[in-house]
Amino acid sequence: MKLIIVLMGVCGTGKSAVAQRLKEQMKECDYIEADEYHSDKNKEKMSNGKSLTDDDRHDWLLSIRDAMVKSCASEGQGYLVVACSALRESYRAKLSEGLELQCRFVHLKGPKELIKARLESRNKHFMNPSLLESQIETLEEPATAALTIDVERSLDAICELIQSSLMQKSSWFGVCGMGVMGTSLARNLASKGVPISLYNRVNQETNEIDVAHRLLEKFPCFSSSSSKCSAFDGDLERFVSSLQVPRKILIMATAGRVVDVIISSVLPHLERGDVIIDAGNSHFIDTERRQKELWDKGVHLVGCGVSGGEEGALKGPAIMPGGQRDAVAIVKPYLEAIASRDRDGKPCCAFMGEGGSGHFVKTVHNGMEYAEMQLLGEVYNYLKVVHRLDNEAIATCLEGWQDTQPLSRSYLMEITVKILRKQEAGECVIDSILDKSGNKGTGNWTAVAACELGQPTTMVASSLFARYLSSQKDQRVRCESSLLPENNATEGTPLPMETLCEAYILAKVTNHLQGMQLLDEANSPRAPEKYSGVKSLDLAEICRVWTAGCILRSELLQVMRPILLQDDGKAGAAALLDDPELQHLLKTCRAALKHFVASCIVRDVAAPCFSEALQFLVGLTTGRSASSALIQAQRDFFGSHGYQRLSDDTGTVYHTLWDKD
Ligand code: 6PG
Repeated sequence: MKLIIVLMGVCGTGKSAVAQRLKEQMKECDYIEADEYHSDKNKEKMSNGKSLTDDDRHDWLLSIRDAMVKSCASEGQGYLVVACSALRESYRAKLSEGLELQCRFVHLKGPKELIKARLESRNKHFMNPSLLESQIETLEEPATAALTIDVERSLDAICELIQSSLMQKSSWFGVCGMGVMGTSLARNLASKGVPISLYNRVNQETNEIDVAHRLLEKFPCFSSSSSKCSAFDGDLERFVSSLQVPRKILIMATAGRVVDVIISSVLPHLERGDVIIDAGNSHFIDTERRQKELWDKGVHLVGCGVSGGEEGALKGPAIMPGGQRDAVAIVKPYLEAIASRDRDGKPCCAFMGEGGSGHFVKTVHNGMEYAEMQLLGEVYNYLKVVHRLDNEAIATCLEGWQDTQPLSRSYLMEITVKILRKQEAGECVIDSILDKSGNKGTGNWTAVAACELGQPTTMVASSLFARYLSSQKDQRVRCESSLLPENNATEGTPLPMETLCEAYILAKVTNHLQGMQLLDEANSPRAPEKYSGVKSLDLAEICRVWTAGCILRSELLQVMRPILLQDDGKAGAAALLDDPELQHLLKTCRAALKHFVASCIVRDVAAPCFSEALQFLVGLTTGRSASSALIQAQRDFFGSHGYQRLSDDTGTVYHTLWDKD
């Protein structure tokens, strides 16, 4: 992919001279002089000392952009230098639209007197020197992503700096950690034509010696003519120095101490303005601590949720970046390039908010993923134990649900069908799997967040606990023979499939409602101090990002998005409860959920997540909770904690001497 250097700044900063010199010095270097694209009308206006308006500049910018696109249409690498004032952020956006990955802005900047003197010495140029004032007024300094150079330097020094920072660097982006996910993300980005550097540690004990180099040889995307990539095994310094500034380094490593170790070894090689992206499943509080530590040295950390597993990482994951807005803006074109696309073709990648917002949203995503997986597990178990269906019949049944009930469709449902059909040596693989479900911690963090935020995210918690109970396999086997009452389970006709499917859809909706309510609460001013870094989560946008590429993607998320978008998203998760169609579903499917949970209870078939869904809905639709009133009375009885009265809405706290007449 061609690298475009846009030399920007007010008139008289020497943009054209620098561009010409770069063209002479660099091989395969094209040059666009923006002045040549002005209409006669614009030229006349400027020579009469009249400044151009946004409207005057509109067509001019578009024609320059067209010329840029044309110059970049050819295969291969090389450079395009554009000398263009590009004074405003909106002008720069217009110029680089669709070319964001390859466009770099270099801001030539200097003292007004020097620039004025240069302008006045210029011959035969239509630009009237008196326009300098208005250009200075119009100029919006670019954010951190641009390279800023003082024009008091010599022409040679300016060109040398541009070449050494941008043009002589072999790579635009670095990926550190060549595990399955890191490799897939790197392949995804390289296949978009971005020259990248790959880094992997060297560890003799685990025989990790030349992982990055071997990947370079293995995958053609790393050596195509438009994106020549480089590999660095164990040489962080050379890896870092191969990258354009500001450096963009994506770390894909197991959450926890490893991330700290990698950051501390890469940090000494970085400079102010560089950006690290932590694309693993880090805890949002760790991310915020690291952001502060790195920012002390002027380096940004973007905490980035990435969902979609190996295939998603390769073909298009959902991406949830968070941190300083400017830092996210620097890396966003790359993240957007590799992200999945929603139904409107927009990248499933959006700024999630400041601090650890990206990782917090990913954590909640994973918690909800636990519940979605548990629900499917419980459906499978019921169909196996109660309906006595074999794996193929269950797969066929679940396929049928997807045909007849669109809201049951999801990625997890699809893979479940495939899993049930997978055979090895004529046997179903699923039947040979040890029934202990593992976890890496994000479900646990979601449950903790629910407790800290005071949210009844019961389905995530019950799914997590179900995994914990499942992992106590030995105890389960022992207790099956020692504790199970005789004649425990009641027989009866298995529930019809339609009932099961309705119960499943309602439980799914409930899980999504709980998840959205949890995200909403993190936004609220009530949230504890710990959550102060997680600000302004946009539920509708999160929902959009989750519609494609991620593990949670489903038809339900497609349905939820317009609901959450209503009224500019002001209602938050409450919009889901107010939506007439969801209300109808919550009412009409309730009986099915009750039948399913009841059927599981009488037969001793475990269905903790379905049960929690039902209990949550019962609680949610109980206006007067006698049990809660009793708990308040008990608390006041033994601890004088006080209580409020229904008849008094002033918030007055009452205390009763319960033991005295
Ligand atoms: C994703 C997944 C991914 C990973 C989980 C598994 O969105 O792509 O959630 O992040 O599969 O970390 O988590 P557990 O091991 O805790 O189930």
